Amino acid sequence: MAENIVILTGAGISAESGLGTFRDKDGAWAKFDWRKLASPEGYGEDPIAVHDFYNARRRGLLKAEPHGAHQALAQWEAAHEGEFLLVTQNIDDLHLRAGSKNLIPMHGELFKARCSACHHVYDWREDLSIESTCPRCQIRSGPRPHVVWFGEMPLEMERIYRALESCTLFVAIGTSGTVYPAAGFVQDAKAAGAHTVELCLEPGEISVLFDEAIYGPASEVVPHFVETYLKSRA
Ligand code: APR
Repeated sequence: MAENIVILTGAGISAESGLGTFRDKDGAWAKFDWRKLASPEGYGEDPIAVHDFYNARRRGLLKAEPHGAHQALAQWEAAHEGEFLLVTQNIDDLHLRAGSKNLIPMHGELFKARCSACHHVYDWREDLSIESTCPRCQIRSGPRPHVVWFGEMPLEMERIYRALESCTLFVAIGTSGTVYPAAGFVQDAKAAGAHTVELCLEPGEISVLFDEAIYGPASEVVPHFVETYLKSRA
C-alpha cells in the first residue's frame, strides 16, 4: 500500500538558494528583533520598518532560485502514488517554482500582499509602503505582507492536522523545531504511527523525537534521501 507522506520544510532548505535562516548565527533574528519586524504589535508601532524589512526580503527572493532539494521534493511528489503533502514554514516561492503541487505555505507568502481592511489577498512582487493602496477597496495604507507573524494563526491548520492524522511517513527538512505549531507536527505524526525522519544540517531541539536522522546540507541530503526512497520502492 502506498505511503501517506507529509513533508515539513523550514528555512534551512532555502539557505543554499541564498536566502537567510532565522536562528543560525548569522540568521535574521540574530540581527533583527522579531518583536519589531514580525509581530502585529511591531507593525502597529512602526509599519515603515516592517515594510522595509519585507521589501528587502522580497527583492532578495527575486534573485534566488530553487536548488536540488526543492526539485527532488517536486519529483518525489510526481512519482508518488499515495497522498503527498508538502507543508512549508518558508514564505519564499521556491517549492512552487520547483514544481511542488500539493503545497501549504503555512506562514504565508512573500510574493503576496493582504489588505488589513478588506482582507483581499493578491499577488505582489514590488515594494509595499504605507502609501500602498488596496487594489480592491482602494484604502490607503491597507496592504501588508501576506505573512503570518508571531501571535497570528498559521494558515490551513485543519488540512495539515488531517494529513498528519493519517500519515505513515513524516519528514522534517531544514527546520530548527523551535516554533509551534510546526515544531509539534512530529509528535502528531508519531501518534498516528508514522515513521519520522529529520533531514537537517545539524541536530536541533526536537531531534530526539525522530526515528531516523540524516545530517548535512539539504542540497546533498535531500536528493539522496529521495533517490534512495524511490529506488527502495521501485
Ligand atoms: N541544509 C539543511 N539545513 C540547514 C541548512 C542547510 N544548508 N542551513 C541551515 N540549516 C538548518 C539549521 O541547522 C536550522 O536547524 O535549518 C534550520 C533553520 O532553523 P531556523 O532558522 O529556526 O528556521 P525555521 O526552523 O524555518 O524557523 C521556523 O520561525 O521565525 C519563524 O516564521 C519563521 O518560519 C520561521 C519559523
